Amino acid sequence: MQYSRKFFSLFFAGILAVASASCSAENEAPAASPVDSKLTEKNINAELKKAYDKYKGLKEGANADYIPALDKVDSNIFGIVLVTVDGKVYSVGDIESEVSIQSISKVFTMAKVTEEKGIDALPKNVGVDATGQVFNSIYAIEQNQGHEMNPLVNAGAITTTSMVSGKSYNEIWNKILGYYSDFAGRELTVLEDIYKSEAATNQRNQAIAHLMYAYGHIEGDPLQATDIYTRQCSVGVNAKDLGNMAATLANAGTNPITGKELVKSADIPEILAVMATAGLYDDAGKWLYKTGLPAKSGVGGGIIAVSPGKFGIAAISPPLDAAGNSVRAQKAIADISAALGGNPYEAAPYGK
Ligand code: DON
Repeated sequence: MQYSRKFFSLFFAGILAVASASCSAENEAPAASPVDSKLTEKNINAELKKAYDKYKGLKEGANADYIPALDKVDSNIFGIVLVTVDGKVYSVGDIESEVSIQSISKVFTMAKVTEEKGIDALPKNVGVDATGQVFNSIYAIEQNQGHEMNPLVNAGAITTTSMVSGKSYNEIWNKILGYYSDFAGRELTVLEDIYKSEAATNQRNQAIAHLMYAYGHIEGDPLQATDIYTRQCSVGVNAKDLGNMAATLANAGTNPITGKELVKSADIPEILAVMATAGLYDDAGKWLYKTGLPAKSGVGGGIIAVSPGKFGIAAISPPLDAAGNSVRAQKAIADISAALGGNPYEAAPYGK
């Protein structure tokens, strides 16, 4: 009797051990996520081609012309590049032609200042709130005396540029250009025709910088800050460069091709948060609703978007909509990301 009770308790203990082992195995290795399984080489190539073919003939929108040289850029340039966080590059269309980076640069100067001055410096000096106004709004500055804005609208961006440390114009400029180049993985240069054209017509940005100076946000020479900002907006990039830049943000701040750490991984969520709320200016809400992706556009026709931990994607096509965002780039990125499960808000119920 004694023996058989011992036998049964050992028998049941054994069954329990097997059951709990298979349970913890299930906990450790959940079923493969349906989102990740979409990110195969075949799917990515197919979705890039599908979006390219669908939108290459689209004629909506027009080149920006408030900077005269932008109006002369070939409207037919259209290229898309997706770079996964393990450094694989997928592309379609024109991935060599350069356009000016324009406002996409604002993200990377924001990253530089965050790395130099800490995560609280920009929220304190310019804010991290969407203005709901056009990107070069003066009204937005007046509303809160230069606070409660963000580094991705012109007032915040020129101020952010003014915060990059350096003893001279050249030291600051070389630091900015070198930093952008590290994100792209090659040495970038300025498109001089674009720079000259914008420098000759940027009186509104000069006024914005003076106003930010008057409200105490810019410490040095506001005209120097405006000029360096104008130069940073004129840096030439192709779709490959932008794809690498986006992928570095997706890969927690380390360039997935070169392996160089450019932003501390701890600072990436805040940078992406500002891109999500203000990256496409007064259309940022619509974009986020549709894609869930932190992104940034530029009036040169480029857009970058980030699926954190998965991929960075970029597209270039100069014709813009009324808010100043590339028509074809928005559509292509939105379709590709949706098909590949790029929306960071997308999740499957646990265990399914
Ligand atoms: O300051 C400007 O107006 C341009 N250099 C940049 C504007 C821009 O790219 C806005 N993007 N949608």
